[in-house]
Amino acid sequence: MIRELDDPKGGERLSERFDIPTGRTIAGKYQVNSLLGVGWEGEVYLVEELQTGIERAAKFFYPERNVKNRRANNFAKKLHRNRHHHILVQYLHQERVKLQGHDVTCLVSEFIEGQILTDYIKNRDNSLESYEALSILWEICSGLEPVHQAGEYHGDLHTDNILIRRQGIHFHIKLIDSFDWKDSRSKNVRQDVVDLVRVLYDMVGGRDRYSEVGPEIKGICCGLKTSLINKKFKNAGQLRSHLDSFLWEY
Ligand SMILES: Nc1ncnc2c1ncn2[C@@H]1O[C@H](COP(=O)(O)OP(=O)(O)O)[C@@H](O)[C@H]1O
Ligand SMILES: [Mg+2]
Repeated sequence: MIRELDDPKGGERLSERFDIPTGRTIAGKYQVNSLLGVGWEGEVYLVEELQTGIERAAKFFYPERNVKNRRANNFAKKLHRNRHHHILVQYLHQERVKLQGHDVTCLVSEFIEGQILTDYIKNRDNSLESYEALSILWEICSGLEPVHQAGEYHGDLHTDNILIRRQGIHFHIKLIDSFDWKDSRSKNVRQDVVDLVRVLYDMVGGRDRYSEVGPEIKGICCGLKTSLINKKFKNAGQLRSHLDSFLWEY
């Protein structure tokens, strides 16, 4: 996602992928178990604490995407500020490690079990039933509601940054990879809401299926028109409240 500001997410990747081999020891503390995901700003591995066997997620930042360690530090501080909001991944600590001759920051956080929402949707023929999609959206909104109430925001909500795990009739949701935009918080709260609506749109099948979805979905998606969405819902709490009370047409 590209936004205004000094485009912290722009530019070319300069070096190779890290491709850290399984079994490698990191900072004398962790052993690398497997690759969890590759993103724009780095690679995330499942690691195991040598002393305890406890599993963690370790994100290794590509140096050119983490100039002066700014991104890793901002990310860590944002997660720390929001540590009481359990929908957001919990930050633990940072290490500096040598990879391919570079000093690389490795940010260690809790390991989230589950799958990214993108894969969850893909495994269901690219579209979820309205009720399931709305229930997942409710879960995300109710977790984000206190974050928005505190004047904070996620900053990069999309289906790759949402981890989902089912248990019984419940959906356990965690949000990873939040972004500190260093500009108006209220603007970013409103953008989070637009992004949440986009997540709903993606859950019910995106552009291919939008014409077939019911009025309860269209009433939220507003044809993805930002100004209409923000007129209806100013924060995650207002969207959650709508989900708690709208009337079905059948
Ligand atoms: N704490 C975590 N627990 C489990 N998987 C994770 C965790 N953090 C990241 N991942 C996986 O790694 C991928 C990339 O991580 P992310 O932090 O989103 O990096 P990027 O900013 O580069 O997109 C995610 O989409 C997810 O699959
Ligand atoms: Mg990501």
